[in-house]
Amino acid sequence: MMDELRAMLVEHGQEHVLGFWDELTPTERDALAEEIRQIDFPLLAVLHAGEHTAMSLKALANRAGPPPAFRLAAPQKNPFSVDEAKQRAAEALRAGQVGVILVAGGQGSRLGFEHPKGMYPIGPVSGNSLFQIHLEKILAASRRYGAAVPLCLMTSPATHDETIAFLDQHDRFGLPESDVTVFCQGTMPAVDAASGKLLLAEPGHLALSPDGHGGTLAALVRSGSLDALVERGIRYLFYLQVDNPLVDICGLEFLGYHLLSRSEMSTQVVAKQSPSDRVGNIVAVDGRLHVIEYSDADKEEAVKELLERRGPDGELEIWAGSIAVHVMDVAFLDRMAHTADALPFHLAKKKVSHLDRQGNLIDPSEPNAIKFERFIFDLLPEAQNAIVVEVDPARHFAPLKNAPGSAQDSPEAVQAQLIAEHTSWLRTAGVEIAEGVPVEISPLFALWADDLPAKIPPGTRVTEARFFC
Ligand code: UTP
Repeated sequence: MMDELRAMLVEHGQEHVLGFWDELTPTERDALAEEIRQIDFPLLAVLHAGEHTAMSLKALANRAGPPPAFRLAAPQKNPFSVDEAKQRAAEALRAGQVGVILVAGGQGSRLGFEHPKGMYPIGPVSGNSLFQIHLEKILAASRRYGAAVPLCLMTSPATHDETIAFLDQHDRFGLPESDVTVFCQGTMPAVDAASGKLLLAEPGHLALSPDGHGGTLAALVRSGSLDALVERGIRYLFYLQVDNPLVDICGLEFLGYHLLSRSEMSTQVVAKQSPSDRVGNIVAVDGRLHVIEYSDADKEEAVKELLERRGPDGELEIWAGSIAVHVMDVAFLDRMAHTADALPFHLAKKKVSHLDRQGNLIDPSEPNAIKFERFIFDLLPEAQNAIVVEVDPARHFAPLKNAPGSAQDSPEAVQAQLIAEHTSWLRTAGVEIAEGVPVEISPLFALWADDLPAKIPPGTRVTEARFFC
């Protein structure tokens, strides 16, 4: 086994990863050999050489314009009314055709929380976790429409075991076992940026990281989840990422526009405030939607110019920022799963700790390695009739990214947004809330604002922190 492995590594100039082989136990050797066998070496070489790019950034930027969209400011221009959309979405939910895919495989490195991010106690009054908030929304939608809304939850090796244990410990927050599938995404090795050499995280382990949220597609197929969804008659999947507790899961308007437009993939956006907002930019090129990342402005002058361009009214021309909330047809995902290279890899230069040849752990202070990730939004150009729907960021977008005390996307900022949103729901329903008093609403109490009036006795006053549940 050793000879065969060494020969393969020598062929690709990577035999240094066996540098500590003699010190490993038989079990550790098996584990390392397995990690090595999983690697597609020719692909890795092509990726490191930068030959595997989709349309070049420059070509994309030169042809990109703003996408057609369902805008907040001009609902009269939408091809469908809000009521039509809600009705159509309710039909699909009632028919049991809608499922949810929640991706929670990220390493959450910026947050600095020692468990999977989904376990973070974000509820401003309840202290409930991100997982609980998301799963209770799904349960509430399924109760309301009298049909199962199956959840596919994607983890990674970094988050898998703890996520499963957490969900078991809490009985999946009320969701039936048959409606929750947890599956693990794939990994990609990190390589030294200069040489393309694999890095060792430990004597018996490569430095591996999750293959990006675009890894969802391959993982859905590999785990058998996609086939299981088809078998259950699920036709539409609502996609969200674990870090945003404000996502309106199965929100009727968005789902309804997707269905009425016969879109294969729809995406929610917010209007950007500045060219450098840290979101993906949704653009249209030849009638197809594409995403240009904010970080691409540093790589290509044409992208920078595009993102800074303003119309006669002073508004940003490329205004639509992705918040990573999508609806996708299951049939579309199935087609893409059988399309070679549907999702390209993106390269990111990151700090990756690793062993040097002597076995010392190197903790770099500057980015030293390349990580390879796929992004789910790269499916957009392939989708027929793809649509863009604008939402209000104050009400829909509160991503938890950074550690407590950070200037933005901190737990405090997310909690303040949750409190503001729930305060507004309650005040609209006639509740008097003393200034500065935090309130929170469980999705099982009210999934949407219009659930509240029936539940709140007239004259309700709140003078101290309260969790409506
Ligand atoms: P981010 O790229 O913001 O990563 O992922 P992160 O893990 O939340 O945080 P950092 O960058 O390490 O600080 C956005 C969303 O995509 C998921 C994450 O779990 C998060 O919900 N994701 C990301 C995956 O599921 N898999 C990945 O490989 C990457």
